[in-house]
Amino acid sequence: MTTDTLHEQKILILDFGSQYTQNIARKIRECQVYCEIHPCTLSLNKIIAFNAKGIILSGGPASVLEKDSPLCDRNLFTLGIPILGICYGMQIITHVLGGRVDPSPHREFGRAELMLKEFSHLFEEVKNNSTVWMSHGDRISKLPNGFKTIAFTGNSPLAAIENPLAHIYGLQFHPEVVHTFEGTRILKNFLFKICGCSQNWKMESLVEHMISDIRNKVGKAKVVCGLSGGVDSSVAAVLIHKAIGDNLYCLFIDNGLLRSGEKEKVESTFRDNFNINLDVIDASEKFLQKLKGITDPEKKRKSIGNTFIEVFEEEAKRLGNFTFLAQGTLYPDVIESVSFKGGPSAIIKSHHNVGGLPEKMQLKLLEPFRELFKDEVRALGREMGMPDGIINRQPFPGPGLAIRILGEVVSERLDLLCAADKIILEEVKAAGLYNDLWQSFAVLLPVKTVGVMGDARTYESVIAIRAVTSTDGMTADWAHLPYELLGKLSNRIINEVHGVNRVVYDISSKPPGTIEWE
Ligand code: XMP
Repeated sequence: MTTDTLHEQKILILDFGSQYTQNIARKIRECQVYCEIHPCTLSLNKIIAFNAKGIILSGGPASVLEKDSPLCDRNLFTLGIPILGICYGMQIITHVLGGRVDPSPHREFGRAELMLKEFSHLFEEVKNNSTVWMSHGDRISKLPNGFKTIAFTGNSPLAAIENPLAHIYGLQFHPEVVHTFEGTRILKNFLFKICGCSQNWKMESLVEHMISDIRNKVGKAKVVCGLSGGVDSSVAAVLIHKAIGDNLYCLFIDNGLLRSGEKEKVESTFRDNFNINLDVIDASEKFLQKLKGITDPEKKRKSIGNTFIEVFEEEAKRLGNFTFLAQGTLYPDVIESVSFKGGPSAIIKSHHNVGGLPEKMQLKLLEPFRELFKDEVRALGREMGMPDGIINRQPFPGPGLAIRILGEVVSERLDLLCAADKIILEEVKAAGLYNDLWQSFAVLLPVKTVGVMGDARTYESVIAIRAVTSTDGMTADWAHLPYELLGKLSNRIINEVHGVNRVVYDISSKPPGTIEWE
């Protein structure tokens, strides 16, 4: 049996470039139905071959009234597969099927009350007057033949439309965002009442299916996995170990840029609890040596990335003959981006990963999570009995503490940062806030300031506290930590970490700031 049996009942999401497209996919997966996101330009043949139970047309930033606005193959509407158009998706339905879309006199953005007008399967058990989230400029002024209005809002007389005979539905608002209170109910109605899907995307069955998939793919070959201690590689290692046992070898490379106690934690979890073959390599000297004299953030990142590849290759060769390299790549990294989003985005930071390694070592990739979102990987880990301490970890960047030490990375400055960082972690956990924060950590600034301690002048380093909330790391808000906690952090860091006489709190959001300082 392969995961194909779990994919029998799937939904196709055609992406027109909305910032919410991934939310649609995540919501559908939460309803235990498998779905995939593809560019709106997917060919009709591929759409047919996909064999979806239903198709969702996402929103998007364009206007169907503009020349060259993104379109899908219009024959899509003749296939008889149920279709739900959301915002721009609904305007596409109208535009292609002979209705009219006009620019609206006022852009409608934010909350609105949805008034139900006619019975529709889409709104079964949906409360009247519920709050929905609007974000659109254009609006529909004439419906295509065969369509009727099923709901409206103060500013949108045609907030929801349907042609039940053709199984085509449209929503002007976004059911996939939390501000639409009945959004999940509406999506469930589309999935179960209209498309006839069943709930077979379940983590329990997924574990078994993935294990047999890995066995089929790998056979008796050997797999090497770079453990970072983060959620994705940790869950990947446990899953692959369940599938192939001792043919999996994990490598944990200590680059000397880790949080305090990290190496010991990984060793005890994987070697002692899960009995996984694990080699811990202390390469800290090498990493620090190569970082000597470097202060430029990008040069630091490159140096660490290159050293990692060098060490990994050398150690993997020493360990044996591997056919596969396991990686915890997630679905958001895989989804093809649609071309009209405005071309390749500028490199803000070159993220450290093992890019180039598979080609260099001639390894095949084993990426069991290529179809999964992070919350699904966490659920999978929980299903396999992995401890909360690993599943709910805050992310930690590949280049480690090096990008939190502004200026040159030398061992005294590393020790100082590690000590401050440990205090932040302890106190955030003690305040019960660890799981509410996307990340919380210390940054060591490259300046010294004057202070006074015990009647004497000091001239010492500054630590910045960074704590943010976020759902995906793409945008973030600075966390409104309680003053009592900030006070405690400042006191403890200044008293306990020698060489620090000042603590500041970073109150920048992303954008315009980024989460890490380098
Ligand atoms: P920024 O600083 O770009 O960070 O706002 C967004 C998220 O990505 C993490 N981050 C990295 N993760 N390798 C990683 O694996 C990297 O090179 C890297 N740089 C930043 C960062 O911690 C935050 O969660």
